[in-house]
Amino acid sequence: MNELVNARLELFPITATIEGDDQNEWLSIDKIRVSELAQKYKTPLYIYDRATLDDAVQQYNAALKELYPGDSGITYAGKAYLSLAIAQWAGQNNLWLDCTGVGELEIAQKANLSKSVILVHGVNKSFEDLNAAIQKAGTIVVDNLTELTRLSDLAKNQVDHLPDLWLRLRPGMAVDTHGYTQTGQVESKFGMSVDEIKQAVKICLDSNLPLTGLHFHLGSHFHELAPLEPAIETTLDLLKEIKTNSGWEAKTICTGGGWGIAYHEDNLPHPSVKKYVQFISEHLINGCRNRQLDLPKLQVEPGRSLVARAGVAIYRVGAVKDSGIRQWTLVDGGMADNIRPALYGAKYSALPLEGIDRHFLSRTWIAGPYCESSDVLIEDLPMPNLQPDEYIAVPASGAYHISMSGNYNGARRPAVLWIDRGKVQLVQRRESLEELYQRDLPL
Ligand code: LLP
Repeated sequence: MNELVNARLELFPITATIEGDDQNEWLSIDKIRVSELAQKYKTPLYIYDRATLDDAVQQYNAALKELYPGDSGITYAGKAYLSLAIAQWAGQNNLWLDCTGVGELEIAQKANLSKSVILVHGVNKSFEDLNAAIQKAGTIVVDNLTELTRLSDLAKNQVDHLPDLWLRLRPGMAVDTHGYTQTGQVESKFGMSVDEIKQAVKICLDSNLPLTGLHFHLGSHFHELAPLEPAIETTLDLLKEIKTNSGWEAKTICTGGGWGIAYHEDNLPHPSVKKYVQFISEHLINGCRNRQLDLPKLQVEPGRSLVARAGVAIYRVGAVKDSGIRQWTLVDGGMADNIRPALYGAKYSALPLEGIDRHFLSRTWIAGPYCESSDVLIEDLPMPNLQPDEYIAVPASGAYHISMSGNYNGARRPAVLWIDRGKVQLVQRRESLEELYQRDLPL
């Protein structure tokens, strides 16, 4: 097997292997030949590997246990990918689930998660979101002062008991990621400034609201740890001042999510979850010690780094054409199931499902069937000469693909398979043609 194939294989689920005989080499996940799944379930097809999901949780758990002496926990940011199966998986792994609004809350409830592990985020929660959160969640992360006033009014007039409240701080630093996925910088629409947090704490204490935590989330898919340090320092300075002035202490500090992953062989090795947790732990421990603050519970809130590597997208090649300058491989999915290349310029990689032992001599542009020139999944990728009707697999497809998918050009959302210890289960069927117009009413 050549080095390039070896490197690409690293991007796939931990159970992925290349099997073969003298004639042919093929991709397997958990010993299952992936092309057989593609034939049976059709494409575009998404596959989640349970062992890889569990391994990611284990990396966070092990790091927290080793490196953070206080209480700790993991919230899975459900926006990365949410379905009944993944919500159940979160429950089985003792994760909390972060839901954005009434829609995700509905899924969490249908998956029978207990109220105490459901946490609600949202930058502009509607009344419907807030009411659902009060009924179904154990924790609400308050984004702004208007929301807090609404909650306080609800607490006074309509509900006897609010969930725990955390306040979302906007610490004012940018992380090294695409501008669209930065959230902690001064001009961001998310969270509250230091001064607003002080006002929010006062409102909570004056109205006797169940304020228990402080939260920040700097952004998504960053690789540099440095900005976490000033964010933690800002948080602890603020907490110290609040404690001195009012006596209130945060039981929990949540440092958000956002740790990056490897999408392409050029991004290897995989960013270390241990280093990420170590950085946060050390700064929190030292920062609390220096300010004589008790060590809070540390809650981390990853999405992508828990689920991205476990997911693989499978496409079927339709046509191959050469524009003279560029060789196009046209496949049956694209921006409708993976908007990330078009939206963030995300750079992916791929392997063919069969014939992996061919020479990777051609450079191809892999594009989807949609009527947009931006519907290009991968640019200029070394691949073997792909043929119509063969399949390719795109690794690191488990986060922000299906959850951001749409029906552009009448696309139907793909089917999702779940592989668990050699057993394959359909956990989301492909959207049907009827579902494309079921909400419509004729004139
Ligand atoms: N916590 C909060 C409050 C968040 O808003 C997010 C992601 C996370 C945690 C989890 O971040 P992660 O660990 O997954 O990076 N669609 C973009 C990412 C948007 C992230 C939204 N918030 C992408 O495909 O890159």
